[in-house]
Amino acid sequence: MTIRVVLPGFGNVGRNFCRLLEKRDSLDASGRKILLVGVATRERGSLWSDEGIPLGKLLEAERQTRRVDAVSLPGCKKGIPALDMIREGNYDILAECTSGNLKAMEFEPGFSHMRAALEKRKPVVTSNKAAVALKFWEIDELSRSMETPWHYDGTVVVGAPFLDYARTCLVDAKMRAFEGTLSSTCNYVLDSLIEGASLDQALMDAQRSGMAESDPRLDVEGWDTAAKLMIVAQALFDLPCPDLGSFPVKGIRGLTRAMLSEARQKGGKIRLMARVSCSPEGAELSVGPELLPPTHPLSLLFGPTNGAVILTESLSEICLSGTGNSPRQAAFALLQDIRKIVRMEKR
Ligand SMILES: NC(=O)c1ccc[n+]([C@@H]2O[C@H](COP(=O)([O-])OP(=O)(O)OC[C@H]3O[C@@H](n4cnc5c(N)ncnc54)[C@H](OP(=O)(O)O)[C@@H]3O)[C@@H](O)[C@H]2O)c1
Repeated sequence: MTIRVVLPGFGNVGRNFCRLLEKRDSLDASGRKILLVGVATRERGSLWSDEGIPLGKLLEAERQTRRVDAVSLPGCKKGIPALDMIREGNYDILAECTSGNLKAMEFEPGFSHMRAALEKRKPVVTSNKAAVALKFWEIDELSRSMETPWHYDGTVVVGAPFLDYARTCLVDAKMRAFEGTLSSTCNYVLDSLIEGASLDQALMDAQRSGMAESDPRLDVEGWDTAAKLMIVAQALFDLPCPDLGSFPVKGIRGLTRAMLSEARQKGGKIRLMARVSCSPEGAELSVGPELLPPTHPLSLLFGPTNGAVILTESLSEICLSGTGNSPRQAAFALLQDIRKIVRMEKR
């Protein structure tokens, strides 16, 4: 009745995942429980316990010491690297929450973690945008060949079950184009600039809330949005992995309060837009700031709220939005993805 989970990455998302688990007695009505058996970080230790790691103790010890191995448990093991846990440990699901960097083409250690789990036929759930954006098809092919599921709803518009909905409900409607505001940090920063904050102040606030990437330049320069766009292009439009440099990526750095206020006075809004459009000639991708007219559905969104519009052949325009892109919501998406895996296994 337990699902044994290994968690590489105990940053904003990993920590929130544990907080969420701590509050839940069981995963679903069948009473199955998630047992965290392993947690690993890059520089702040690792901990393995076959009996399960008490979440309250782990969270409190990490809060006080910043280390995940500051918990003493009978029979626990410390210092095992994440990859060794994944290759050799006894667990059921890998929850991959380490970070990467699209701009620097860094997809490790996330990719190796996911590959090692799938090679052992252990299902994977992940929030790791850079690894999914750069290695989508390799992970997907491995998942198919090993007949082992992987889920990545914690990567894009995490405030709404966006990827899952589009993949399951819109396939027959034939998706032709996508446009989205995918960075809560950029939405938040743009709104804060109008209110009089400086870029640095707004970014600091976004970092404090855990919303911004650990290197917030990735958000303002458009790389975080580009990673999400690459995931959408591959997962929803079946496109090959787009080469970095083959599509424009522009951030929000050059925008001034005057430009943003002028847009607002006209009833519209400037937002960092991500676009995919498909035609018989091929697909086009772009990331850049745009002035949205007041009639555009995404100009109606406020604060960090993200949104996506999908143009389909059969249903015309479908619009989805979700409040924010917080680590708590990413953690919730991971939990939902675990639920999907368990539900499929029960069938
Ligand atoms: N924050 C959000 O709102 C959000 C939302 C959706 C998706 N995401 C994505 O989710 C992932 C995690 O985000 P986050 O905000 O939690 O990042 P974070 O706070 O920077 O945490 C990253 C974690 O990964 C660990 N790590 C890095 N390299 C490792 C390695 N080689 N072995 C083991 N652990 C390693 C880090 O270890 P140390 O602690 O030692 O540095 C840290 O614990 C990222 O890919 C991010 O893009 C984030």
